[in-house]
Amino acid sequence: EFSRDQEAADEKDRQLDQVRDASDEALTTNTGVRVDDTDNSLSAGERGPTLMEDFHFREKITHFDHERIPERVVHARGAGAYGYFQVYESMARYTRADFLTDPGLRTPVFVRFSTVAGSRGSADTVRDVRGFATKFYTREGNYDLVGNNMPVFFIQDGIKFPDFVHAVKPEPDNEIPQAQSAHDTLWDFVGLQPETLHMMMWLMSDRAIPRSYRMMQGFGVHTFRLVNERGEGTFVKFHWTPLLGTHSLVWDETQKIGGKDPDFNRRDLWDSIERGQFPEYELGMQLIPESKEFDFDFDLLDPTKIVPEEQVPVTPVGKMVLNRNPDNFFAETEQIAFHTAHVVPGIDFTNDPLLQARNFSYLDTQLIRLGGPNFQQLPVNRPVAEVSNNQRDGYNQHSVHRGRTSYFPNSLGSGCPYLGEAPYTHYQERVDGAKIRKRSESFKDHYSQATLFLNSLSDPERTHLTSAFQFELGKCETMEVRERVVGHLNHVDHTLARAVAQGIGVTPPAAEETPNHGRSSPALSQANTRMDT
Ligand code: HEM
Repeated sequence: EFSRDQEAADEKDRQLDQVRDASDEALTTNTGVRVDDTDNSLSAGERGPTLMEDFHFREKITHFDHERIPERVVHARGAGAYGYFQVYESMARYTRADFLTDPGLRTPVFVRFSTVAGSRGSADTVRDVRGFATKFYTREGNYDLVGNNMPVFFIQDGIKFPDFVHAVKPEPDNEIPQAQSAHDTLWDFVGLQPETLHMMMWLMSDRAIPRSYRMMQGFGVHTFRLVNERGEGTFVKFHWTPLLGTHSLVWDETQKIGGKDPDFNRRDLWDSIERGQFPEYELGMQLIPESKEFDFDFDLLDPTKIVPEEQVPVTPVGKMVLNRNPDNFFAETEQIAFHTAHVVPGIDFTNDPLLQARNFSYLDTQLIRLGGPNFQQLPVNRPVAEVSNNQRDGYNQHSVHRGRTSYFPNSLGSGCPYLGEAPYTHYQERVDGAKIRKRSESFKDHYSQATLFLNSLSDPERTHLTSAFQFELGKCETMEVRERVVGHLNHVDHTLARAVAQGIGVTPPAAEETPNHGRSSPALSQANTRMDT
């Protein structure tokens, strides 16, 4: 039934073929017993009460009662597709990751695009960040690049994430408003946490209303680390660029489309793949030698900063093509589990405090969202690489492990996976310091790159951004909150601050005589020296 052209099918597709189910057989219960009637419950007489012994009725209703699982705490609404990634040339100089070193290899992928703040049934065309998460089913295990369509983030330290998300989501008393960018709590948070300013510029720009997932960039955001065969590290920023170009809607279009077709982006992705117009993206990397770590006037570990392309150009590395829609939204798009800590040999972390928090958060949330510790066995999550370890039992265990031993080491028989060749080895970064709750001074400048972003806009884009600030901030009912935000905008650009203020009834601030971007020379000390290997 489902067998496709096996020639064209990739390894993941062939794996999925084992579990595809057409449900066009005779109707049965979940224990395989054929059913005689699924429209009439068993009752005592034609007009009598329903009987407890109607196991078909009870099973059918019980299963239905349990159909829903919690939606993602953020990025609840999404759309996904399968495809492949292929590197142009070997990147072996920088990384030992197999999928980045063999140009002859097509690595299967699944990508999930999403909005962040809305619930699972919310509209596609809202002003919001978009998620761009890619799972590479590599021969060395799954690698996830869990990015967004904007290259920076709102906060510098993951410990603020619950506060930020509580400020962005609908307010807790009445669950209003659905639109994230237009309420007091968000702007209150922004005014009190000026590190959000750079990202807020992106959020008020046309980037926040993409025309299509096929026309949207993606960014890994954090500085990550590539590690080559010799154990040498290189800092890296990941970029996805759509081959169709990056395009946005305009605000008025979003309002109309949101009413007429809330599935606008989701439908566009599905239909274009069905038509054979496959979305394509180029992967690019900004590669930064470790020796240059302190050469920037911002901290490479600060996720509210980009590395300007004038300083480090983007090297094109490979191409991704999305060519197959999922068979089942729930089984695949909903149950996929991305995680920044799903890495493969040759890709490693940095001490970006936002990344460090993410490395804890995703697995933790998935343990509840996907019902226990065995969700990697779900078809969409299952690696094409072999999985073998001594982890056992738990809810939804689908493997039938054999043998009497499930510990390491053991000398009594099978079930003792050995430590194989070419394993993941963590990069040997030397770290030492006092235990403190204090962010480095090098994270202090919250305005310069917001200005940089503003200055990169064309005139129409700048007009759109100004109107967005007026509209969204103008919906904030608390005057002091509006004023506080305008005060910060004044550090970004006086003309912008004045225009926003005038549009929303706030007294325009005076021009700053010496705009001090809060910048302190990066106090990046020698404390972070690396171990010689
Ligand atoms: C989900 C991106 C920061 C926690 C997601 C998803 C994306 C994403 C794309 C959706 C994944 C999917 O499609 O299933 C980002 C980016 C961040 C960021 C680019 C910053 C650079 C954070 C932080 C935390 C966090 C700081 C927590 C400390 C979560 C959680 C989910 C999520 C809990 C739901 C995951 C699930 O239920 O499977 N994020 N995120 N994120 N993110 Fe983040």
